[in-house]
Amino acid sequence: MSQQELLLGVNIDHCATVRQARYRESAETTGGIVEPDPVFFAQQCEIAGADSITVHLREDRRHMQERDVERLRECLRIPLNLEMAATDAMLDFALELKPDYACIVPESREEITTEGGLDVIEFKDRVAKVVNGLNEAGVIVSLFIDPEPAHIQASADLGATAVELHTGAYSNAYYSSERENEFSRLKSGAELGHGCGLQINAGHGINYVNVSEVRTLPHLHELNIGHSLVSRALFTGVQESVREMRRLMNVL
Ligand code: PXP
Repeated sequence: MSQQELLLGVNIDHCATVRQARYRESAETTGGIVEPDPVFFAQQCEIAGADSITVHLREDRRHMQERDVERLRECLRIPLNLEMAATDAMLDFALELKPDYACIVPESREEITTEGGLDVIEFKDRVAKVVNGLNEAGVIVSLFIDPEPAHIQASADLGATAVELHTGAYSNAYYSSERENEFSRLKSGAELGHGCGLQINAGHGINYVNVSEVRTLPHLHELNIGHSLVSRALFTGVQESVREMRRLMNVL
């Protein structure tokens, strides 16, 4: 793999969403008739060349369960990225699990900025506590934020290694006149973040169509993609859905 290659983190939450739709009440998360297994899904992604696996262990446990995350930690050979709220309970869980990366995301309405990223200014103290705890444990931390200059600067000040720029507003505007504006916000955000010494990742709403533009953002290190890959996998199988996305991300 060349140094410049854009990395693909696959968010497998929606594999668990499908399982929970049928087996929410099951005591087991896998085995017997309980399917689909997110760990098996992740292993297929790994075989197909995914660079990391992302899971969001939400407070309401609507898709991923603790046992899924623990099994992934045991089985995966590629890095595990844990998306987590900035809470004491999640910090304790992460320190026990020791994922390779952690991405701090908002979970409740009041933690969200206008576009939907984490409000790292309003919740500075809470985020700082979690970032420091993770940094001390050697977990690489990113903050999921809007491409807003103040939030990017604050993320650097908080000691995060990376930011994941929220591409949701851009994705929603893709077929509207706002697309250009949203894309330039992401571009300026990526430039500023890079200038602040942050690694630049991006995610939310990226699909097989808009990836051809998203991938041209400057200084981009990794894309985190979930829904479109899981959806495509229904028709092509997991491995092909990953291979096709990686191909589109790295077209020369
Ligand atoms: N990045 C973050 C921080 C997320 O929370 C999610 C899931 O909402 C994604 C990326 C993946 O988004 P999508 O499923 O729309 O590809």
